[in-house]
Order: sequence, then structure tokens, then C-alpha cells
Amino acid sequence: ESVRVFAPATVANMICGFDILGFAVDYPGDEVAMYRVEEPGVRIRTIVGDDGKLPLDADRNTVSACVKMLLAHLGIQDELGIEIELTKHMPIGSGLGSSSASTVAGLFAVNSLLGNPLSKEELMPFCVEGERLACGHGHADNVAPALMGGITLVRGYQPLDVIKLPVPDELYAGIVFPQVDVPTRDARQLIKEKVLLKDAVTQWGNIAGLIAGLYERDYALISRSMHDVLIEPTRAILIPEFYEMKRIALAAGALSFGISGSGPSVVAIARGKEVAEQAASFIQQHLTQCEIESLKYVSSV
Ligand code: HSE
Repeated sequence: ESVRVFAPATVANMICGFDILGFAVDYPGDEVAMYRVEEPGVRIRTIVGDDGKLPLDADRNTVSACVKMLLAHLGIQDELGIEIELTKHMPIGSGLGSSSASTVAGLFAVNSLLGNPLSKEELMPFCVEGERLACGHGHADNVAPALMGGITLVRGYQPLDVIKLPVPDELYAGIVFPQVDVPTRDARQLIKEKVLLKDAVTQWGNIAGLIAGLYERDYALISRSMHDVLIEPTRAILIPEFYEMKRIALAAGALSFGISGSGPSVVAIARGKEVAEQAASFIQQHLTQCEIESLKYVSSV
């Protein structure tokens, strides 16, 4: 008995909603093949596409550790034999929710092997624990869209309250990953703990405007709202050519531009695939001129 599950990359924060907003893309993503075997215990058979970066030890690997956690919750950890093949189709430490995609794929796979004892909502806290294992902090803005699809809002963390938001048809993302390493753990340590009230007012106005824009399918409102005054000024320092890439994306007609998750990937949000494609291509050309290698992904939101 076996299952094969794909979970997509995600763009956390959706520019203005730090730790609360995120969306899934069509590609890239990670794949988990899971097999039920005779011998009890959870084991990793192979990991492909990680350049040897991820541990094969089932207690240290996030995917297997989460699977074990779920089996323990169901009280069947001593009876069941599970073997995992993980294939990574996206870079690690890129700001595209790489660890989340693997975790979500693994938990979804084991749940379906068992005949779906848990709903997606019930799986979510286990996914968040996986994120905590991977980067030291249990934010849900990558795992929620990876599991639910589309755009998600984490309305609250205690208890976890995830809401699916409408996705306007013409919304596209042009993503560029400049190949420098920015671990989420480091990118989170940079951020200031305290914010100014006037900045908070700007930020929550933008978040509310974005949500209204999504419901109204009002692209102009979406565009005016997708600005981040809290996190971007600090994290932009870690990303080469950030402000030049922003200028290029907006000049190409993007609705907005910002950091994907904790970076270094950046995202141009556009109305229509062509604009997203152009913005990402122009950014990539600029990075090539600066001798910075990059990867590009264009997807509907
Ligand atoms: N909200 C998280 C952060 C996402 O910005 O640190 C990490 O991918």
C-alpha cells in the first residue's frame, strides 16, 4: 500500500501580512511517496534534490518526525511500519516554504494511508509543529496555504484559526530566487520586537485593504494595499539588489513587489500572467548583469 503526495511552494506574508497571510503557487513543490511496510517504525528511504542537506535520521528529519508525532497522537506508533521517499523540487532556505511543503506532503500522505482519520483542519497543528522543528518558530502562514490551497489568513494562533480567502482570477505571481542563502531562523532574529503605533496603523490599514480588495476583486485596491512598513525595511538588507528589483517590477506594471516569506526570494504580484512573467524576467536579467544567479517561477495565485 502506498500514496504519492505533492505539496506546493508558498509565498508567506503576502507582502503586508507578516505571519498571517500566505498563498500557494502551482509549482514548484515537494513530493512524498509513502509506503506501508511490515516492520514497525518510521524510516526515510531516500531524499532526492536536497544536495545532501537534510538528515535521513527519522527523528531529526522534519517530515518523519511529524509523521511520528501524528502516529503517537493516534496511539499507533508501535504497530505501524512507514517508509518515506522525499523528493525536493525546490531550493531550501529560499523563502518559498520548502520545509512546509515537505511537512504538509508527509502529514497529508500518512493521513490518507490511514484512511483520513483527521480533517485538514485537524492536521494543521501538526504541520505547525513541523515548522517549529524546521526553523524554531511555529508560524502557520506557509503550512496553511500549502495544505488548504489558495490564499489563507491565520486569524489567530491560540487557538489556530485559519480562514480561506477568495482568489481573484487574474492574480499572478512572478517569483525570483536570487541564489543566496537566508535561513528563516536568521531572518526572524533581525526583526524588531517593538513597532511604532503609527507604523502599525499603516500596516493594519493595508492588511484590511488587501482583504477587502480580494473580496471585491479590486486590483487597484489590492495594489495600494500591498505595502509592508514593518518587516521589509529590515529584511531588505539581506537581499541583493532589493530596491532595484522593486523598481524594475513596478516599472513592468506589477501591482506590488516584496519579499517572499523570509526571503531571499522576491515576488512581483501582477494582474495577468504576462505582466508577472515580464516583471520576473526583467528582474532576472538585472541579476544576471550583477552576476547573481537566480531561479524564476511564474504561477497563478
Ligand atoms: N512569516 C514567516 C516569516 C514566514 O516571515 O518569517 C517564513 O517563511
